[in-house]
Amino acid sequence: MVESTTTMSKDDIPSLMTAAHQNGYGEAFDVLTLAYEVPVPRQLSSNQILVRVYAASINPIDWKLLNGNLSLIIRPSFPHIPGKDVAGVVVNVGSSVKRLKIGDQVYGNVHNDEGAYAEYVRGKESQFALKPSNLTMIEAAAIPLACETSYQALFIKTSPSVGPKSKVFICGGASATGWFAIQMAKAVGAHVATTCSQGNVSLMEKLGYKIIQEANEMTDDPQQLLVIDYNNKNFGEVLQDQNYDLVYDCVGGEQQWLAARRILKRGGQFITIAGDDPEASISLNTVFTLGPRVLSRKLGSVFGSSHHSYMFHMISTSYSELDHMRTAYFGKGK
Ligand SMILES: NC(=O)c1ccc[n+]([C@@H]2O[C@H](COP(=O)([O-])OP(=O)(O)OC[C@H]3O[C@@H](n4cnc5c(N)ncnc54)[C@H](OP(=O)(O)O)[C@@H]3O)[C@@H](O)[C@H]2O)c1
Repeated sequence: MVESTTTMSKDDIPSLMTAAHQNGYGEAFDVLTLAYEVPVPRQLSSNQILVRVYAASINPIDWKLLNGNLSLIIRPSFPHIPGKDVAGVVVNVGSSVKRLKIGDQVYGNVHNDEGAYAEYVRGKESQFALKPSNLTMIEAAAIPLACETSYQALFIKTSPSVGPKSKVFICGGASATGWFAIQMAKAVGAHVATTCSQGNVSLMEKLGYKIIQEANEMTDDPQQLLVIDYNNKNFGEVLQDQNYDLVYDCVGGEQQWLAARRILKRGGQFITIAGDDPEASISLNTVFTLGPRVLSRKLGSVFGSSHHSYMFHMISTSYSELDHMRTAYFGKGK
C-alpha cells in the first residue's frame, strides 16, 4: 500500500510545528515532552533539504542518547529533538541541491544533526534518497539506519565482499540489523546461520527460507537458514571449526567474539556494530577497561597474533547506498 501525500508549496510551510523534546538525560517518560510551538527549521544551507515527516522509527541509538549513555561523546543541547530514521516528502531545497526536488518522497537518516520526531526535519541532501515506491512511509522509515549499517558491514567493510558461497554467521538474527543482514546475504547467495531466541524462530520462518535448527541437517541448499537458540546453545560449540568467512555481530558482548573465534576460518573476519558493551554506556571507566581489550584484539589482528580480524563498524550515511538498497533489494521485493 502506498499512502497519498499532499503536494505543498514553499508558502504552505508553517512557521511552528509539533515536535518531541528531550529535556535532559533519563527515562523517556521523565525527559520527553511534546512541544507544540517549535520553530520549523525553514532556513536551509545550500546543501540542505526540508522534509515533511510522515513516519519516523526508533533505533537503539535513540534510547542510548536519551538516557545519556553516549553523553561523553555526543552532547546535544536541550531541548533536543530526538530521532534519526525518517520517511517523508521534500518541501524545500537549498540552492545547490540537484538530485532531489520538492514533492519527492524520500527516506533517510539524519544522523546526529537534527531530530526526526517532529512534523518537519531539516537534513543534508546527502542523507536522503528516493523512498522505495513499493513501500509505505512507515515501512520505509524502518530501513535506513539498520539496513545501511548491515549493508556496509557485509559489502563494504568485508573483504572480499559477501557473495555466493560466503559462509556468514549473524549474531542476533531477530534484531533489525540482523534481520536485514540475513536477507541481503541470502540475496547474494551466501550460506547463512544465525542466533535468536526460540520465541523468534517463527519470525525467522516468515522470511521464507527452509529453517533448520540442527547443524547436522545443513546441506548445500541455498534456501536453508540455520537458526540457533542462543539461550540453549553456544554457537561457538555448535559450529566449532566450520570455517566461516564472516561473523557479523549485531548483539555485542565479549562472548560473541569468543564464540566467533571458534567458528571462523583462518583469516576470517569478525565485525561488530555493538562492541563489548551493548548498552554503550561510555564512561571514563569503560574507556580504561574495554578500550585496551578491544585495542589488543585489533592489534592482534593487524600484527598477526590473532588469526582473525576484528572490526568495530560505525555507520556512515550515504545516499548512494540508500539508492542501491532501493534498486537492488526493496524495489525487487528481496
Ligand atoms: N555501530 C553502528 O553504526 C550501529 C548501527 C545500528 C545499530 N547498532 C547497534 O547494534 C545493536 C543492534 O541494533 P538493532 O537496531 O538491530 O537492535 P534491535 O532491533 O533492538 O535488536 C534487539 C534484538 O536483539 C536480540 N538479542 C538480544 N540478545 C541476543 C543474544 N545474546 N543473541 C542473539 N540475539 C539477541 C533480541 O532477539 P531475541 O528476542 O530473539 O532475543 C532482540 O529482539 C544495538 O546495540 C545498536 O545500538 C550499531
